[in-house]
Amino acid sequence: MTENLRRIVVMNSKGGCGKTTIATNLASCYASHGFRTALFDYDPQGSSMRWLRSRDENLPDIYGVVAHKSARDNKTQSWHLRLPIGTERVIIDTPAGLRETELLNHIHNIDEIVIPVLPSPIDIHSTADFIRDLLLIGKLRASNTRVNIITNRVKANTIAFQALKRFLDTLKIPVIAQIKDTQNYVHAAERGMGIHEIAKKQLEEDKILWDQILKQLEATAS
Ligand SMILES: Nc1ncnc2c1ncn2[C@@H]1O[C@H](COP(=O)(O)OP(=O)(O)OP(=O)(O)O)[C@@H](O)[C@H]1O
Ligand SMILES: [Mg+2]
Repeated sequence: MTENLRRIVVMNSKGGCGKTTIATNLASCYASHGFRTALFDYDPQGSSMRWLRSRDENLPDIYGVVAHKSARDNKTQSWHLRLPIGTERVIIDTPAGLRETELLNHIHNIDEIVIPVLPSPIDIHSTADFIRDLLLIGKLRASNTRVNIITNRVKANTIAFQALKRFLDTLKIPVIAQIKDTQNYVHAAERGMGIHEIAKKQLEEDKILWDQILKQLEATAS
């Protein structure tokens, strides 16, 4: 394994909060910035791998790993053996409904945890439970793993978003980005692209946002 390898896992036991959207956009963003990138899909639904299959071969390369099979066979610790030599960033997409015991496997040797959360009361409650379970894992406290939150599908100036902000203020976890609710993510996903890979003038702001997300995740990387 290279010393420059960093692993980022996108997780929240709540379904539909944007794990795959964020994992795939992160992978494409890293690849576009010249990092040798791998994308792991621990979800048997295989959405990240479907995204990767629809990716045009002229776009920056991303190495895909169907990881849920080895997770089922309890072989999670050996996944790094399958990485191409020189891999620099590993982005890991996880399924909804992760239980406490499974959390442990996913945070092993991880540099950054990214938790997407939607502005809705149901999502706030589930995410609060998830974060509590995550922080209770002693291994996380003892490691250098950083936890980050990304608010997703945000409609600014809504009551739901105000409630989410109040909830996040009670946590001591950095909120590294606020992603808008826009069909651009749906369209990019269909084409196996990250939003910043789409050449449209209107998306300049989103490109800046993803560059900032990368910068935050790289802040402590040596
Ligand atoms: N910022 C956004 N704006 C608009 N649509 C979005 C946004 N983020 C995600 N979506 C859409 O919301 C749906 C759920 O997103 P996604 O699949 O990324 O969530 P997930 O957490 O991976 O879900 P699951 O728990 O099923 O794996 C998808 O249809 C996706 O295209
Ligand atoms: Mg998903």
